[in-house]
Amino acid sequence: MALPHDTLTALREVKANPNSTPMSMPPSFYNHDDMLPDELTSVFLNGWICVGRSEEVPTIGDYYTLEVLDEPIIVTRNKEDEVVVLSNVCRHRGSLLLSGKGNSKRITCPYHRWSYDHNGKLLSAPIVDKTVGFDKKRCSLPKFNTHLWFGWVFVNLSGTAGQFEDSVVGADAYVKNYHPEQYLSINPTTEYWPLNWKCLAENFMEGYHLTPVHMKTLHPMTPTRLCEKIPAGMGHTGYKAHYNDKYEGRKESHPDMTEEELRQSMMLWVYPGFVLALSPNSAVYMSITPTGPTALQTRWDVIARPETFESGEAQARYDFAASFNQEDRERLLDVQKGLTSRFADRGFLAPPDLEGTVWDFYQFMSDKLIGDSA
Ligand code: FES
Ligand SMILES: [Fe+2]
Repeated sequence: MALPHDTLTALREVKANPNSTPMSMPPSFYNHDDMLPDELTSVFLNGWICVGRSEEVPTIGDYYTLEVLDEPIIVTRNKEDEVVVLSNVCRHRGSLLLSGKGNSKRITCPYHRWSYDHNGKLLSAPIVDKTVGFDKKRCSLPKFNTHLWFGWVFVNLSGTAGQFEDSVVGADAYVKNYHPEQYLSINPTTEYWPLNWKCLAENFMEGYHLTPVHMKTLHPMTPTRLCEKIPAGMGHTGYKAHYNDKYEGRKESHPDMTEEELRQSMMLWVYPGFVLALSPNSAVYMSITPTGPTALQTRWDVIARPETFESGEAQARYDFAASFNQEDRERLLDVQKGLTSRFADRGFLAPPDLEGTVWDFYQFMSDKLIGDSA
């Protein structure tokens, strides 16, 4: 399917002139039906998608299920104590296998009771194992390429993505002193918003709106004027949201953190849909995926240092994130409506510290969607 003409033209301009005056993409980039097929293939199936955190499956046999890009999957822990991501579709006649979350010795299909181990290997197929020609080896559940990054579980569904590490070259240095691998999940939450996935990802990752949209919530801590972009990498971009002098900061933090790190939230976007606000005692993250041209799924959570749970600080961080997410949601529903106007057009972007991340993302999208054909 061809991309909308004006989006194609704009992507070619972005690619040919990365130093030109930064403009937003045309409305069709955010609302045209023809965007989604290429995005699904080139950006999401061929990329890395976060499906949660390793501490959501702390014990061998633990599992939870979710759908990503309409694909039913299982995140589990095998007997080798590794996090494994499997297809949640039975290799007999297609039933879903597990639902919700729990712990199981085997993965047993509720339909005819075929059962699998936590690496997806078929263990038993009652009665069918007498079928002439039956071949157990051809009945394993698809097991997806998985990469753990500071506790986040990323998968590549197509098996064709490049190395995950390549997309975060340069990003690790901004993350490691916070030690988010020690943070713990509070309440993984899946929501469906009637919005294009890019509107939410861009919004999460630009500091320009912090003061006007979050005047009472985020502005007292991380006002727009204190945002500072970091250099983009091949598969990521980000900025530092420095704390206002009047903001007291966070008490609980890892001793490795520098003075600067203690006084900022590190904002990172690992393309296409993983966005992160990493702070000294907790982090908000979202994994955003499309469910339609103007519909998205966000699986989001707040993770926090273990010592914040008993005091209620962890729950307070989650509630705080829920409240500013709601502020974003209201604004973005207006944006999505505005973009359908026949008078909607491209607009000038703010300087790099404030909206340079959006411009970086356009470079990524132009690479993925038009490649070398520009
Ligand atoms: S569909 Fe799973 S055992 Fe038949
Ligand atoms: Fe926001």
